[in-house]
Amino acid sequence: MSHFPSERILMGPGPSNVSPRVLEALSRPLVGHLDPEFLAIMNEIQDLLRQVFRTSNPLTIPISGTGSAGMEASVVNFVEPGDSVLVAQHGVFGQRLAEEMRRCRAECTVVSVPFGEPLDPEQIQVMAEKCRPRLIAVVHAETSTGVLQPIEPIREICDRFDSLLLVDAVTSLGGHPVLVDEWKIDICYSGTQKCLSCPPGLAPFTASPRAIEYLNSRQTKCQSWYLDLTLVQNYWGENRTYHHTAPVSMNYALREALGIIVEEGLEMRWARHERNHQALVAGVSAMGLEMKVSPEFRLWSLNTVVIPEGVNDLQTRQELLSKYHLEIGGGLGDLAGKVWRVGLMGETSKAQNVLYFLHALEKCLTSQGFRCSAGSGVSAASDVLAE
Ligand SMILES: Cc1ncc(COP(=O)(O)O)c(C=O)c1O
Repeated sequence: MSHFPSERILMGPGPSNVSPRVLEALSRPLVGHLDPEFLAIMNEIQDLLRQVFRTSNPLTIPISGTGSAGMEASVVNFVEPGDSVLVAQHGVFGQRLAEEMRRCRAECTVVSVPFGEPLDPEQIQVMAEKCRPRLIAVVHAETSTGVLQPIEPIREICDRFDSLLLVDAVTSLGGHPVLVDEWKIDICYSGTQKCLSCPPGLAPFTASPRAIEYLNSRQTKCQSWYLDLTLVQNYWGENRTYHHTAPVSMNYALREALGIIVEEGLEMRWARHERNHQALVAGVSAMGLEMKVSPEFRLWSLNTVVIPEGVNDLQTRQELLSKYHLEIGGGLGDLAGKVWRVGLMGETSKAQNVLYFLHALEKCLTSQGFRCSAGSGVSAASDVLAE
């Protein structure tokens, strides 16, 4: 068995490809997690994360653990048993948020829509009037459906009920605008392996002063010791009190990945994600395939393409992987077997990846009897990229 896995083009729902600079950072000499040199790196990471989250929140840190640790930290710290919370749910990750709320014994009200559709703020407003939520939670970029849920209308509802706003930005941070201060998001988390293009293992997190006020006035102790932010913030804050051993090398990698983002510039990065997404949509449409989500709610980072009739889902994905070293994702939850999830996140969001994918997909589909004119996808995408 080789210890050197193959090089893949990672066009699935994450992880995305990472820069050689990030891989190099992982191999730098290990220092202690309380070494002054590491403490300086921690400060830099917090500054960089504030830039990427577009926030001045003092508590802005990477939680040790994957995106799910960010989700769990957001729920266990800011929800107490008996709290009324509302989860605006439009896919699998919204379902997980609701499950986490119930496990925290919150009174959880759910507003949901069929997979592939965005939530209607009116519907959220109606439910909020009934349950008067102390907190409203929503997934910004639903990786299971490819929907980008606009946040500002939900913020307005939070304002009417004085609710905290919790946003999952796992698949949007670094690829789409996530404007924490402007949108008055109180609690926001992400994951390193999507548009930030770093290996999986850390969950960037930020909380507003208002959320911290809530945290400090909790009636009950946070039931998770590991994710208790009142303890974790003593390690990341001025005291530097040992809480757990930070994953030192992953933090080196995150600092490098965030440095690359700031060098590129967030606006440029968002524009790149949008352009490559548009090229991919033009390509698959020219081949006669359909997108699952209507244009105004489509994610740039995760494209859900409807699997055409007569085409075998698994066979196509396996062929893409074995012949072309290209990974795409299958459908999740209600969309299993119905869509492919094609990621264009961070380093992976490149023109040449879009063109290569369209070429490879055409070969896989036509080998199964699907008819489309040769080169139509690549040609349509090239036109968009040339604009
Ligand atoms: C929107 C969303 N939230 C949460 C998660 C969970 O993150 P992780 O798998 O890194 O624990 C994911 C992972 O794909 C996600 O896409």
